[in-house]
Amino acid sequence: MDVHANAHGFTSVDTQPRPAEWVQVLDRLNAEPFYAAYKQRLNHILHAEPGKVFLEVGAGTGDAATALRSCSGAEVVAIDSSLTMVAQARDRGLRYAAVADGHRLPFAADRFDGAWTDRVLQHVAEPGRVLDELLRVIRPGGRIALADPDYDTQVLDIDDQELARHVLRFRTDVSLRNGSLAHRHAGLLSARGMHDITVEARTLVVRDPSAADNVMGLRTWAHTAAARGHLDHGDADRFVAQFDDAVRTGRFTYAVTFFLTAGTLP
Ligand SMILES: C[S@@+](CC[C@H](N)C(=O)[O-])C[C@H]1O[C@@H](n2cnc3c(N)ncnc32)[C@H](O)[C@@H]1O
Repeated sequence: MDVHANAHGFTSVDTQPRPAEWVQVLDRLNAEPFYAAYKQRLNHILHAEPGKVFLEVGAGTGDAATALRSCSGAEVVAIDSSLTMVAQARDRGLRYAAVADGHRLPFAADRFDGAWTDRVLQHVAEPGRVLDELLRVIRPGGRIALADPDYDTQVLDIDDQELARHVLRFRTDVSLRNGSLAHRHAGLLSARGMHDITVEARTLVVRDPSAADNVMGLRTWAHTAAARGHLDHGDADRFVAQFDDAVRTGRFTYAVTFFLTAGTLP
């Protein structure tokens, strides 16, 4: 599967041609040490402990929710807009997993001790509304944590840097709904009156081209841009040739920075 031919797959997993393949995408990403490490940090930032109840919005396969539950002793409720994902989370043993939309959470106010999203705000139609909902359902003193890559931070070493920027910008501005929002998460929390706001940055550096190709789909982005009228087909061919040349000569380097943003509701 070319997971990035339709980069909006995570906006609507159940309507994709093969929804189950998006489960495999998450499993491949979650197996990468970079992802495991920042997810562990997110758990720490939430201040989870026994007796508390947390909500994950856009929980995917539920692995992070299960991990938070077992490492902290806190209870976790997970929601996702995809039935495929929720069924998977339940099959994997997550007790409280339900289909729901982050824009309209089916919970009363002040219900949770904290809530988090991980690589979800980049895909939603109205990130501000999802944040409003997260704040509504946590109690005063509750924690919010948000994780997302910010695609404005991407770099790629191919010969033609203008071409690289053009393709990376397509990825940021066209193929994702909110590809460059993550560096503004702190501002969004601050505007909503959150306190103790912290921002941590972690840069994913990809030097293994098979990882980049299989997990990120990067090699295909130029042709996706061309197919959608954002790049000349000849330039797309040139991008792939230069990409392959970078791999052949052992200099392949792609990087993107993730932001982990957290705050406390006063
Ligand atoms: C990139 S995946 C991340 C999944 C999980 N957080 C993880 O880290 O593995 C994005 C998830 O957000 C879900 N999602 C997208 N839009 C959503 C919405 N409006 N409300 C709830 N979940 C949503 C998708 O179905 C998908 O499972």
